Amino acid sequence: MTGSGLAAASLARLRPDFRWGAATAAYQVEGAAREDGRGVSIWDTFSHTPGLTLNGDTGDVAADHYHRYPEDFDLMAEHGMGAYRFSIAWPRIMPEGSGRVNRAGLDHYSRVVDALLERGIEPMATLFHWDLPQALEDAGGWYSRDTAYRFADYAELVMAELGDRVPKWLTLNEPWTVVGQGYSRGLHAPGHRDYHAAGTAIHHLLLGHGEALARFRSIAPAGAELGITLSMAIARPWSNSDADVAAARLLDGEQNRVYLDPLFHGSYPEDLRGLFPTLFDEAVVRPGDLDVISAPLDYLGVNYYLNHLVKADLTVPVLGARIVNPEGPMMSAGIAAVPSGITECLVRVRDEYRDLPMHVTEMGASLHDYVDPDDRVRDTGRIDYLRTTIASISDAVAQGVDVRGLYVWSLLDNLEWELGYSIRFGLFFVDYGTQRRIPKDSARWYRSVISEHAGLDRTRQEREPSW
Ligand code: FCB
Repeated sequence: MTGSGLAAASLARLRPDFRWGAATAAYQVEGAAREDGRGVSIWDTFSHTPGLTLNGDTGDVAADHYHRYPEDFDLMAEHGMGAYRFSIAWPRIMPEGSGRVNRAGLDHYSRVVDALLERGIEPMATLFHWDLPQALEDAGGWYSRDTAYRFADYAELVMAELGDRVPKWLTLNEPWTVVGQGYSRGLHAPGHRDYHAAGTAIHHLLLGHGEALARFRSIAPAGAELGITLSMAIARPWSNSDADVAAARLLDGEQNRVYLDPLFHGSYPEDLRGLFPTLFDEAVVRPGDLDVISAPLDYLGVNYYLNHLVKADLTVPVLGARIVNPEGPMMSAGIAAVPSGITECLVRVRDEYRDLPMHVTEMGASLHDYVDPDDRVRDTGRIDYLRTTIASISDAVAQGVDVRGLYVWSLLDNLEWELGYSIRFGLFFVDYGTQRRIPKDSARWYRSVISEHAGLDRTRQEREPSW
């Protein structure tokens, strides 16, 4: 056992160049919503609409990362982190979503990338973490096929600009959440509640991914890699009854298979015809689309938070199924967290889809953190969560899965979408009133894990020649 409480053998299984990182997303941390020519995104509109976010919280200021990124990257470097996953705000680059390019936006991210590289931190850039330009939403958003092509244009522009310095790219973050929360359940921007039409949004998101991937292949420097981040959840039936088993299968389809199948098998799951009829409509899914979508990825990003126990419940419209989360310790958002489930998700991708490199692009714990009188944040619950996370990733590696990095959600406390600032996910506490950052105990613990892993690798290398 090491000082971090992780078994040495568990840490030693992770590649010597395993990426120890942290993640953020533009709208959640940047603030500076009206600066340097940034256009309006659907999240500005949504958060400024009374009643849609908790306490009316918005990302106008957030953690002010737009201005404070050098200080934040210093903290990362001091805590041993070697990789940063961040997202680029489309409305900073193309304020109207297409056409006019805002040079100031490109310059900002160019400085961000340079600041990372100066500190020896590897950038991983997400091109779409939900902040769709409002002008594109007004033209139909992801219901419109045109949005997929506008995304590819924007992606190509950014990749051409930063591709010489950014080795890892992600097209979309969690299309499931975009569709499940933003198009089906109405809890996220743009607030649609229409399952019937949601399939169209699914397809156009994936088409946008595929088109951006094709552009990437034509311009990317050697060695650069591109993937997509999916949010996976394990859906298990509440009981062995046929109804519960079918309900769990449906939820698994809605969250996992409807994205994994087209990306890796080039088809949409037949059993989802009833839920997403437009995925089987040739006016939406045109000849050749699925070839574009299923073009080989360099790696897959996996985000994992939840296990779903699923009960059949005919009172629930459309799905006829209800998610119950009785497993695991409760986190502050009222959700149960079962970090050990990441093993099953990673193994599943390898076994049912493809044996490809994977990065865990988000895992993290939301807690009601607070600063003690001695200026410390004792977030032991997060440390326990992350310890299980790392041990469980290592278990997947022991089963032969090629996992290459972990990007903890999140580097900093930030705006948790419709839940606003009410819950905290960061390794660093943000006092929003002063914007002071305070390393939580988990940040110090993460640093100890990273240095233990580096130490173990050195030992291994030193010993090898004498064997
Ligand atoms: C994920 C999102 C991320 C963050 C975490 C808690 O679904 O990708 O932006 O909100 O959840």
